[in-house]
Amino acid sequence: MITAYDEEAEATGWYGPEVAFGLTYAHVEPGQSMLDIGIGTGLGSLLFLKAGLKIHGMDISPQMLDACRSKGFSSLHLHDVNKTPYPFDSESIDHAVCTGVFNFFSDLSLIFEETNRIIRRGGLFVFVVGDRSETEAHAVEVGAEYTKSDKSITMYLHSKEQIAKLTARYGFESVRGLSFTVFMDRERTKSMPARSYLVRKRIGIEPVI
Ligand SMILES: C[S@@+](CC[C@H](N)C(=O)[O-])C[C@H]1O[C@@H](n2cnc3c(N)ncnc32)[C@H](O)[C@@H]1O
Repeated sequence: MITAYDEEAEATGWYGPEVAFGLTYAHVEPGQSMLDIGIGTGLGSLLFLKAGLKIHGMDISPQMLDACRSKGFSSLHLHDVNKTPYPFDSESIDHAVCTGVFNFFSDLSLIFEETNRIIRRGGLFVFVVGDRSETEAHAVEVGAEYTKSDKSITMYLHSKEQIAKLTARYGFESVRGLSFTVFMDRERTKSMPARSYLVRKRIGIEPVI
């Protein structure tokens, strides 16, 4: 089932999932497992599903999870990323992906801590952030004309320095990354810099928290 969210993503050129998949594809194998944090309608992990990975999804929205189920995803969990522990055993999943979600959170510590707990040593975590330079604002207001509602929202951008500190603190090492552009409207008049990071859970070193 193609949802209104999927149509909007296509119309606005939301390529976060493709960028994340492109960075990761050569490093994963069919049959491996992957956790999609904030799976939504499944866009962030659909290509991994097609590549033969077993996807476990987590999201706060039952409607999004229903849409996901209709696309063939079966292991879906209704859960708020702010609440720990997440409903997965430690070191029980090979890899993790998170696209289109970090912009809702000022502090990503809990997500990194839980992801480190859940994925196996040597496993990969690929994610997308709204990017900024160290001197640009961390929080930006996005007007109602771009949110498809009558409300403006606060969106959080994360600099390379912030991400480097977080990933190191929670036991990950950098593999590769790529900058790209996200558009806020179908006419593609308003854009925002984004960046996808591929990191690997360190082998044999506990996270320093
Ligand atoms: C913009 S969508 C991104 C969906 C998908 N990952 C993608 O790349 O298209 C953001 C998703 O994050 C979910 N989300 C937002 N806040 C959340 C929270 N606190 N816990 C779990 N999921 C959350 C929303 O329900 C939504 O499905």
